[in-house]
Amino acid sequence: MRAVVCPAYGPPEIIRIEERRSPAPGPGQVRVRVGAAAVNFPDVLVIAGEYQIKVPPPFVPGSEFAGTVVEIADDVDSVAVGDRVTGTGIVGAFAEEVAVPAAGLARIPDGVDDHRAAAFGVAYRTAYHCLRSVARIRAGDQLVVLGAGGGVGLAAVQLGVQLGAEVTAVASSAEKLSAAAAYGASHLIDHTTGDLRGTLREALPEGAHAVVDPVGGRLSEPALRSLRRGGRFVTVGFASGVIPQIPLNLVLVKGIHLLGFQFQDLPPDEFHRNEDELRKLLTTGQVNPHISAVYPLTRATAALRKVADGKAIGKILLDLTA
Ligand SMILES: NC(=O)c1ccc[n+]([C@@H]2O[C@H](COP(=O)([O-])OP(=O)(O)OC[C@H]3O[C@@H](n4cnc5c(N)ncnc54)[C@H](OP(=O)(O)O)[C@@H]3O)[C@@H](O)[C@H]2O)c1
Repeated sequence: MRAVVCPAYGPPEIIRIEERRSPAPGPGQVRVRVGAAAVNFPDVLVIAGEYQIKVPPPFVPGSEFAGTVVEIADDVDSVAVGDRVTGTGIVGAFAEEVAVPAAGLARIPDGVDDHRAAAFGVAYRTAYHCLRSVARIRAGDQLVVLGAGGGVGLAAVQLGVQLGAEVTAVASSAEKLSAAAAYGASHLIDHTTGDLRGTLREALPEGAHAVVDPVGGRLSEPALRSLRRGGRFVTVGFASGVIPQIPLNLVLVKGIHLLGFQFQDLPPDEFHRNEDELRKLLTTGQVNPHISAVYPLTRATAALRKVADGKAIGKILLDLTA
């Protein structure tokens, strides 16, 4: 089988395609023929050796896949050969086949193809859990989304609208903002063309109820300043590569709630409620992942480069059958 291999830490251009032996499932594992893998920003960081968890090279990158079970270990009874599943991990997904623990897999609902299943994973789950359980969005809330054309950001726009929020999308290009508008964002702000603080004040004279920030850097402070008294600022990640320094007087003066999003912090009952709601949104077609590009395995570098440069709109996929 073919796999993307990272031979040493570096930029996306360091990866290469190798022919490897099919992985044999160990105890508790299954072998999955991968149909599609999502390319996520952390994949770029793992390859660069800059992710919070370091994987020693050589390794097969890729953190999220959808495919079909083709072999199971003797002790596995939770899934069967032929089942269609999605899975996540730190590495391993950019290959035609993966051997993974059966316990971590989720069934793909009928009627959802591998592309939609792969694209709907981490980004939409992050956005939904964040909006529901951390930003605690309610109908009528004013929600500001930074990085609104990216994977998590565009998902937050779509899902925020579903939850009844009025969404202000902040991004760096007309193309990204037009994608956000297509999913219902009411206010569109290109942060490259002016003073974000002033533009947000004009768009939201009474202030926002919540900000979702997957970008960090110089955008965080003006976004935080756009909050009304008691507003919620949720930090999700630092795609800009810069961790902002926030003056705490801003937090004190308006009684702002500064919150961080991590999956492991979610209370189990809320986690399961959110997962069920999200699954329903996918299966009923109320929310469809935005897939802007699909690359064959041989073009994995181009896919990773697009994500590394912040140019991806919504989700970028690798098609492992192409
Ligand atoms: N906490 C969690 O559990 C969790 C889960 C998933 C993801 N994350 C994190 O969330 C962040 C966003 O993930 P994502 O999948 O939405 O990424 P993405 O699709 O690449 O989008 C990131 C956005 O960040 C902006 N950006 C600014 N400078 C950038 C740069 N130098 N390189 C890349 N992007 C830049 C871009 O928006 P502009 O239009 O403004 O340029 C881009 O659209 C990442 O840091 C990721 O690790 C955290």
